[in-house]
Amino acid sequence: MNLEASWLDAFLQTFERCAIASTESVVVLAEQQSRAELITLAELALAQLKCRYYRLTLPTPLLPTGPLVRSTGASLALTGHTEAVGALCNADVIIDLTVEGLMHAVETAEILRSGARIMNISNEHPEILSRMLPDNNLQQQVKASVKRIRSASKMTVHSDAGTDLTVDLKGARTVGVWGWTDRPGTLAHWPGGLVVSFPAAATVNGQLVLAAGDLNLTFKRYIESAVTLSIKDDYVKSLSGSGADCALMNNYLAAFDDPAAYATSHVGWGLNAVARYEAMTLYDRAQTNGTELRAVAGNFLYSTGANEFAGRFTRGHFDLPVMACTIKLDGEEVVRNGKPVE
Ligand SMILES: [Fe+2]
Repeated sequence: MNLEASWLDAFLQTFERCAIASTESVVVLAEQQSRAELITLAELALAQLKCRYYRLTLPTPLLPTGPLVRSTGASLALTGHTEAVGALCNADVIIDLTVEGLMHAVETAEILRSGARIMNISNEHPEILSRMLPDNNLQQQVKASVKRIRSASKMTVHSDAGTDLTVDLKGARTVGVWGWTDRPGTLAHWPGGLVVSFPAAATVNGQLVLAAGDLNLTFKRYIESAVTLSIKDDYVKSLSGSGADCALMNNYLAAFDDPAAYATSHVGWGLNAVARYEAMTLYDRAQTNGTELRAVAGNFLYSTGANEFAGRFTRGHFDLPVMACTIKLDGEEVVRNGKPVE
């Protein structure tokens, strides 16, 4: 692939926001199957900014047998590599170019505790990243949304399609991502522009209806036939629907043979006005990881799988952006019919 100057410019803009001092040490963390052009762009940008960096490349581990796991943010690349983890803990900044990303990797907590900041770059075609540049307004919106969730006690979600969900926010852990980090001990991903809460145990109840046009990002697929998820105390008790989407989701979740695969991971919404809803139809699957769709302004992002704050761990993870929902915090609309309320 030939690289474009505009792509390099996007990397420069993002790294500038990370405020990397010349005295800081930077590790470009890659694996064998990382996207080569992202490594090149990252290193060119770091060199141009006169940063002191080196690259650490790990083998890409073979996926365990069982259901294929994709787009989870739980990289296995560091598994068993204690020396590599040690090197990352000694760094100030980690440019994370692992295929899955370190967002939910087992080693991430230790790395962040060391004070290193992790800038994850989603495994996307550089054009996708370059369309979603750092934006101060977006940062303010995300921060404001985080504040609102943290001060609320109840989230409700409704849609004409039939979604009727209640989340008790007591004990929930809320994070916002705007696309860069300049603070020690934190992680951000690019593209950014969303707010997510990890609810405490037994706090999510109701019904979630995935209608045609909603998304399943593990399958990188727009839903074509409605799927109704009945959720009781965080767990999907049943999935019903007559089309391929329901069959795929039912089979996939059952294959984990693990109750936690059916549980709620996180709930939240997208805030990035630049993120394009139709984007996934316009890239080949290998070109995108779907992070843009997680950030589409006004989506309701519901996810199944691990939630360490509720004491649940599992390999599987569905990120399900649901469109045209109304989200309320303590009765006050924050998203109305799929659009953020200003
Ligand atoms: Fe997720």
